[in-house]
Amino acid sequence: RDSHNIRLAVIPGDGIGKEVVAEGLKVLDAVGLKAETTTYDLGAARYHATGETLPEETLAELRGYDAILLGAVGDPSVPPGVLERELLLKLRFELDHYVNLRPVRLYPGVETPLAGDHSIDMVVIREGTEGPYTGAGGVMRRGTAQEIATQESFNTAFGVERVVRYAFEKAITRPRRKLTLVHKTNVLTYAGDLWARVVERVSTEYPEVATDYCHVDAASMFFVTQPERFDVIVTDNLFGDILTDIGAAIAGGIGLAASGNVNPSSVGSASWAPSMFEPVHGSAPDIAGQGKADPTATVLSIAMMLDHLGLTAEAARVEKAVADDLAGRQVAGITRSTREIGDDLAARVTG
Ligand code: NAI
Ligand code: MG
Repeated sequence: RDSHNIRLAVIPGDGIGKEVVAEGLKVLDAVGLKAETTTYDLGAARYHATGETLPEETLAELRGYDAILLGAVGDPSVPPGVLERELLLKLRFELDHYVNLRPVRLYPGVETPLAGDHSIDMVVIREGTEGPYTGAGGVMRRGTAQEIATQESFNTAFGVERVVRYAFEKAITRPRRKLTLVHKTNVLTYAGDLWARVVERVSTEYPEVATDYCHVDAASMFFVTQPERFDVIVTDNLFGDILTDIGAAIAGGIGLAASGNVNPSSVGSASWAPSMFEPVHGSAPDIAGQGKADPTATVLSIAMMLDHLGLTAEAARVEKAVADDLAGRQVAGITRSTREIGDDLAARVTG
């Protein structure tokens, strides 16, 4: 494919998802690529209208794009778990997004709730297709006093190794070249042992990378006391989910946290599928429709997408626009609407 011509599937979703995606696309447009976008109507509104979450033919179509941009899905009117399992998790599993990439970076000018000065620049690599999120388990005697619920955690040598290898490859490209495994090996002894042995074995191929280990409870504490300890973190699906919310909180809040659900297979290989980029936040029904949502997380997710597609110069332009905008925020001291922030970012990208 012509690397400067991207075919993008867009799932704006619900609530502020629609608002932030509109601004993200505005910024993408300002980059000046030939981006061909197709919008898919999925989420709470579609579920209420037709009962559909992710029809098979839509999934098949989505496989044909270079990448997917998602806003957010969810609404209080939809039973919990329906859209998460049948839409979001299904996309991640079907498209084999085994790397959930979540940078945690405190940009200059952005306030952190942490006391003192901190330099925060890490990337959390959360396993995306295994762990306790596979839906394995069951319930019996539901609703009775004898109810039993199990929720199993799956950890395969194959699944752990591929995400660990990705993490080492990421670590070697960063100045600090440090990789921390976060787990709970002292209690989750079977899964933890597998993760620890895989990291140990793969680390021998990366002598330049300093490898260490941290229990997830201690890591949670260090996120708020000494976040500078971390460079690249590799961790299980559940631990990564929780840890990255702490990450968002310490690095400027949920309005800035970007993510990528990445399938790193090379284009053209049998295991290739489009990766999906999305802000970490949800549909925020409390502020939806009011122009209050910050589109920055979506714009940073687009920068990650461009980087993933090999458009590194374009990605850097978008990220610089965000960095400059963030640096000016405290000075300006005014609040802007979703659209105003989008306009300002697009103008900075245009130059
Ligand atoms: P949420 O992330 O939507 O909102 C949490 C809080 O952060 C709210 O007070 C909201 O106003 C604020 N917030 C979120 N994004 C913001 C932004 N860009 N700018 C400014 N403030 C922002 O999480 P919540 O309330 O737990 O979930 C709401 C719905 O979203 C639920 O249906 C949930 O299932 C869904 N959800 C979907 C996700 C996704 O699509 N990936 C991820 C998380 C939640
Ligand atoms: Mg989460």
